[in-house]
Amino acid sequence: MKLRNGDQRPDCVPVLLFLALVLCRVFGARALNNGLARTPTMGWLHWERFVCNLNCREEPDSCISEQLFMQMAELMVSDGWKNAGYEYLCIDDCWMAPQRDSQDRLQADPQRFPGGIRRLANFVHSKGLKLGIYADVGNKTCAGFPGSFGYYDLDAQTFADWGVDLLKFDGCHCDSIEHLENGYKYMSLALNRTGRSIVYSCEWPLYLLPFHKPNYTNIRQYCNHWRNFYDISDSWQSIQHILDWTSLHQEEIVDVAGPGGWNDPDMLVIGNFGLSWDQQVTQMALWAVMAAPLLMSNDLRQISPEAKALLQNKDVIAINQDPLGKQGYRLRKEKDIEVWERPLSNLAWAVALRNLQEIGGPRSYSIAVVSLGHGVACNPGCFITQLLPVKRELGFYEWTSDLTTQVNPTGTALFQLDASKMVLKN
Ligand SMILES: *[C@@H]1O[C@H](CO)[C@@H](O)[C@H](O)[C@H]1NC(C)=O
Ligand SMILES: *[C@@H]1O[C@H](CO)[C@@H](O)[C@H](O)[C@H]1NC(C)=O
Ligand SMILES: *[C@@H]1O[C@H](CO)[C@@H](O)[C@H](O)[C@H]1NC(C)=O
Repeated sequence: MKLRNGDQRPDCVPVLLFLALVLCRVFGARALNNGLARTPTMGWLHWERFVCNLNCREEPDSCISEQLFMQMAELMVSDGWKNAGYEYLCIDDCWMAPQRDSQDRLQADPQRFPGGIRRLANFVHSKGLKLGIYADVGNKTCAGFPGSFGYYDLDAQTFADWGVDLLKFDGCHCDSIEHLENGYKYMSLALNRTGRSIVYSCEWPLYLLPFHKPNYTNIRQYCNHWRNFYDISDSWQSIQHILDWTSLHQEEIVDVAGPGGWNDPDMLVIGNFGLSWDQQVTQMALWAVMAAPLLMSNDLRQISPEAKALLQNKDVIAINQDPLGKQGYRLRKEKDIEVWERPLSNLAWAVALRNLQEIGGPRSYSIAVVSLGHGVACNPGCFITQLLPVKRELGFYEWTSDLTTQVNPTGTALFQLDASKMVLKN
């Protein structure tokens, strides 16, 4: 399990040490060099909505089967998801047969995936989409299916042979930190050696955190995105915990995100059962500000027009996918209001105002625009557009003005500030 020295690539080759140090600081940590995830990955992942339903006899429409993924693939194309940017259709745990095949390769459950993964991948590709799959760094997956420990090269090659485009690599049933860290690194190199472009989605820091601080600079060299916190569930409490964890740790995690490597706060649960309308708006707005992968877990066959419009909101997706690739952060918290901001390309900024109260009605809040974006977001002036909960052009603001808005309990108002080239007239 020891990595060969030659596999470990130097961090910014020090041709001129000083220059290299400066460049490393300016451009942040070097990302996994597979050319993928230059903006956060967008797609659909089965876990939160369909979990590990193996009962195809009684629940043929919601069990983990090729039929489920083929239906989702069709809908991703016919219902505008692909056009909106959702490209990766991803399988999570519970796709496997309980045993490897006679040549030790992983195999899909033959009843639930009679055509196997290769045929499913062909189908998904024929729709212009990409296919994601799931495996585990340890001896078993979280649900108890065969793990990849001892088989990293074989499994990477199997996925590449099938035409897989993304691997979510979980960290259950792993008996030591050394096995965990070396396994995540080894699999990254094994995927690279296959020669196929495969997005590598890790849970490395999540499993490490109980023991010690993750070295994100290092993780970024191996993974395209990485989960830091527990699995999301379909509840407001879960969304709040993720946002609280993220703002509490923003000093450690925000700067390391960028093209090729992203913090992953887990799936979008918009369109399911647990969130009110305002809470769904909060998830969409904050996942955009956090530069999070947008992996929906919902049932595209039954989704409300409102949830669909929110998930396909072009302006909000554009913030999430902004090419500058800088993650946003919490700017301040006061009186149960949080202000988040994210720098965008073309000197624009995204600003989100969250009302944390779970009592009362819409709250008014005013913020001096000069306090946003290091004082330069609106200097000497800017055009402000409210994007969520509804789009409204608010017009021109001078740097001395206040932005005043009303936000519903547990809801969020999302704005975009665009730098104005107009010179103020005295
Ligand atoms: C493998 O890694 C090398 C060196 O970082 C990189 O140039 C190449 O594009 C990678 N290949 C794939 C398929 O990711
Ligand atoms: C897998 O199981 C074997 C045999 O019990 C053990 O030696 C090994 O350390 C385990 N690997 C992991 C990653 O837990
Ligand atoms: C973190 O990892 C990077 C890259 O591998 C390394 O240069 C650095 O020394 C590590 N930092 C710590 C605190 O171990």
